[in-house]
Amino acid sequence: MLSRNEVRVPLLEIAAGLVDDRRMSVDDGLAAVRLDPGALVEGRYRVIRELGRGGMGAVYLAEDVALERRVAIKLARSELTWGLTRFRREAAALAAIRDEHVVAVHAFGHHEGVPFFVMEHIDGEDLASIIAVHRRARAETPLYRAIEIIAEVARGLAAVHASGVLHADIKAENIVIERGSGRAVLVDFGLAHDAHRELGRVASVDDTLDGTEPMLGTPQYVAPELYWNDGARPTAQSDIYALAVVAHELMTGVVPFDAPDALSVLELQRDAPLRPPSELRPALAPLDALFAAALAKDPAVRPATAAAFAARLEHAAKEVAEEVPDARISDPPSGEIRASDVPRILVIEDEPIFARLATRCAQIAFGGAPVEVVTVGSGPEAVARARRRVPQLVLLDYDLPELNGVEVLSRIRALPGGEDTEVLVVRAEAEAAERWRFGILGVRDFQEKPVDVDILVARIADLARRRGLTRRDLPAGP
Ligand SMILES: Nc1ncnc2c1ncn2[C@@H]1O[C@H](COP(=O)(O)OP(=O)(O)O)[C@@H](O)[C@H]1O
Ligand SMILES: [Mg+2]
Repeated sequence: MLSRNEVRVPLLEIAAGLVDDRRMSVDDGLAAVRLDPGALVEGRYRVIRELGRGGMGAVYLAEDVALERRVAIKLARSELTWGLTRFRREAAALAAIRDEHVVAVHAFGHHEGVPFFVMEHIDGEDLASIIAVHRRARAETPLYRAIEIIAEVARGLAAVHASGVLHADIKAENIVIERGSGRAVLVDFGLAHDAHRELGRVASVDDTLDGTEPMLGTPQYVAPELYWNDGARPTAQSDIYALAVVAHELMTGVVPFDAPDALSVLELQRDAPLRPPSELRPALAPLDALFAAALAKDPAVRPATAAAFAARLEHAAKEVAEEVPDARISDPPSGEIRASDVPRILVIEDEPIFARLATRCAQIAFGGAPVEVVTVGSGPEAVARARRRVPQLVLLDYDLPELNGVEVLSRIRALPGGEDTEVLVVRAEAEAAERWRFGILGVRDFQEKPVDVDILVARIADLARRRGLTRRDLPAGP
């Protein structure tokens, strides 16, 4: 679910009690700028469907006909007079940044007088939707994955700040997680402005009355000084505060400060002490100090840079003991297992049923010990995923669309550490010629489909043992 009807409201109105809900459904003028599927923008971008909409406009998935690739188009709301400068600035600010965790901007233009910009399309889901799904299922996000996501966003944010830009609207729904690769990407710089530019005092009545831009934000993510302190402007530290709120939400399921109305939320941000997150989830104990610093009321106490925040997070993560995901399979392993030590298995398989079977077999093969199993459905996704974290074990379907198994494996082997990855090739029938090609890439293990569960479990257990990932007393090979 990518779309959510929401309008961001000036904090001033929130404070005045005019608006008491951060999420209001909107139907105010957006129809005037709606793009229907099939519409051609600037003779070049064919609209496929709407991805989401909010205070600044609507975002569409489109096909760039000239370059034959998918893009995302953000179209401004034409009635926002003060917003148009902001909108063009968002495009310009983004276009200046190159980082894999910040959405790339390709072009800027006008459609029937309404400005739009074209950006990289991230095929995935925003973090707010992902958190909502977990909350509904009463499930926790695996900590090592949550830490990885926040660290990536922090690195992207560091690149943003390095370009002299503040994001100023960091929140879960402005972070998109790419399907397959798992890459976390910052979007929606609707409030971005040049860090060196002097902005008027936040939430002062004069700002809105004299035609300058009112302060916008979602109260749950707004650092206390932005609202309460005279003259406080967005800074790297207010972005870091907002990112820490997202981290808290992702790791515990709830934002640190919440209340039924916006003004009470802002008061809690100012006054309420932070409950150590480990009270909500004990495994978070090593991160308590970092949360306390990043969510400090005094910005001077927060990490000096987003890069420092990422580094502290990754450092503390080494102390995080991973919770055992499925203790029913066997007894939990003795002793603590560090999140960074969790074995990584990559299942490269385009048939969903086999992918699920392989995932289950891998979990059984590890006897209930923590193991990260990531499934991808195509060669390019597999390579993208492996580039970010080289897997120790790969279950490879030979008959993949786009890139075949040999091509995928050559790319994984070329990565640092990729030479040690253990590989099991699964295919309908493994021909001699193909075996020879895989032989060059160090593969000894083939499994023909259809495959028996016990055999697959045993083969995975064998590979895991060979790679030194499991103890000797786990299921033995055939
Ligand atoms: N480049 C993109 N690729 C994929 N999805 C996107 C992209 N940009 C935005 N989205 C989706 O659309 C939603 C709204 O876009 P956003 O830029 O945040 O607009 P708004 O300023 O209205 O909040 C986002 O929450 C996200 O789910
Ligand atoms: Mg948004």
